[in-house]
Amino acid sequence: MTLPASYPIARSRPLDPPPEYQLFRTGRPITRITLDFDDSVVWLVTRYEDARTILGDPRFSSDFSTPGFPARLTAQPPGPGTFIRMDPPDHSRLRRLLLPEFTRRRVQEMRPAIQRIADSLIDDMAGASPPVDLVESLALPLPSQVITELLGVPYEDREYFHFTTKTIGDQSVDPEERMKVRNDLKTYLDELVAGKEARPVDDMLSRLGQRREEAGVSREEVVGIATLLMVAGYETIANQIGVGTLVLLEHPERVEELRRDPDKLPAAIEEIIRHQTVIDYGARRAATADVEVGGELIKAGEGVVVVLASANRDEEIFHDPDRLDFDREQRDHLSFGYGIHQCMGQLLARTQLEAAWSTLFRRIPGLRLAVPVEKVPFRHDMFVYGVHALPVTW
Ligand code: HEM
Repeated sequence: MTLPASYPIARSRPLDPPPEYQLFRTGRPITRITLDFDDSVVWLVTRYEDARTILGDPRFSSDFSTPGFPARLTAQPPGPGTFIRMDPPDHSRLRRLLLPEFTRRRVQEMRPAIQRIADSLIDDMAGASPPVDLVESLALPLPSQVITELLGVPYEDREYFHFTTKTIGDQSVDPEERMKVRNDLKTYLDELVAGKEARPVDDMLSRLGQRREEAGVSREEVVGIATLLMVAGYETIANQIGVGTLVLLEHPERVEELRRDPDKLPAAIEEIIRHQTVIDYGARRAATADVEVGGELIKAGEGVVVVLASANRDEEIFHDPDRLDFDREQRDHLSFGYGIHQCMGQLLARTQLEAAWSTLFRRIPGLRLAVPVEKVPFRHDMFVYGVHALPVTW
C-alpha cells in the first residue's frame, strides 16, 4: 500500500478509519499533504502523542484568519461569538461566560428532561411499523429538542428551531439557502436574547443575557454563542447516535454484554466515542511560530490537520485499537479534542448518548438493521462522519 498524497483519504470499511492512517502513524506520523478541496499543503498529524502536543500548545492557533489556517476558500469567516475559531484572550472571555452552564451539576439537572425527550421519541418509534429510519426518529430530533430546552426557546418557536438546526447541518441543501437560514436565525435569536434581557426567566439565554455586560460580552456575541452551540451540539451528537447505534448493531455480543451488566454503559459510551470518531476531518490549526514536533519543524504560517480518528486508533496507546472493547483500561480518547478548545458539551453529549442507548435497547430489545450494512448511506466526504439514514427493524 502506498501513502496517499492528498487528504481526505477514502475509507475502505465504513466503520473503520482508512487503513493508510496506520501506515502514516508507523512511517510518517507528521507529514506534508495536499488538501483536496483547495490544493493547499498542510501538515497531517496522525499519532496520539503528537496530536496532544499540538492541541495543547498555544503557538498553534484556532483563529480562522491566522495565515495558513486550513479552511475551504469559499467558507465564510465565522462571525462574532464563534469562539471555537478564536484564540485567547477573546476565546477565554467568551468561554468563561459559558462555563457555568456546562458544569457537572447543571448537566445533571438536565438529565430528567433529556430522559423525557428520549422516552417520548423512542415510544413513538416503537409504536410505528418497522422498518423506520433511526436517524429521522431519534438521532436528529433528540439533540435538536435538547438544545431548544437548554437555551430556552419558547415552545411555539420550536418547530422553526428544529427546521433551522436541520437545514444548517444538511450539506445536501444549497449553501446559499443554508446561509439565508442562518442569517434569519441570527435575527430571530437577536430578538429572543433582547426579550430575555428585558424579562429574564430561568434558562441559559436569560442567564447569559444577564451576565454578559459584566463579562465584557456584546449581545451580538451572545447570539453567536447560541448559534455555535446549535451547530456544535447538533450534527456531532446526531451522527454519534447514528453511527454508534450501527456499530452496536454490528456487535450483538457487545449489546448482550450491556444487557447483562447495565453498569458498563458509561465505559461502553466512552469506547464507542473513541472507536467511532465522528469529527472525521480532524481538528485544524495554524502555527504562529516555528515549532518542532515529533522531529519535524512546523513553520509559522503553516496549516495543521490533527486527525483525531487516527490518534484514537494509535496502537502505541490503545491495545488492539480496532477492537470494540468495553473493558479497555486506556480511555483517554481525543474525540472531544484536547487543550483549551476541548469540547464544552461533552458531559451533555454523554448524557444524551446514555439516555438514547439505555432506553433504545431496553424498549426495543429485538432492534436490528433492516438492510445489509453495505446498503447504509454513510456520510463520506463530510466534516462530521456518520450515517445519512439508518433503517432499522425489530
Ligand atoms: C458526540 C458529540 C460531540 C463531539 C464528538 C464533539 C467534538 C468536539 C471537538 C473535537 C471539539 C474541539 C474542536 C477543536 O479543538 O478545534 C469540540 C468543541 C466544542 N464543542 Fe463539541 N462535540 C460534541 C458535542 C457537543 C455538544 C452537545 C455541545 C454543546 C451543546 C458542544 C459544544 C462545543 C463547543 C462550544 C466547542 C468549542 C469549545 C472551545 O473552542 O473552547 N459539543 N467539540
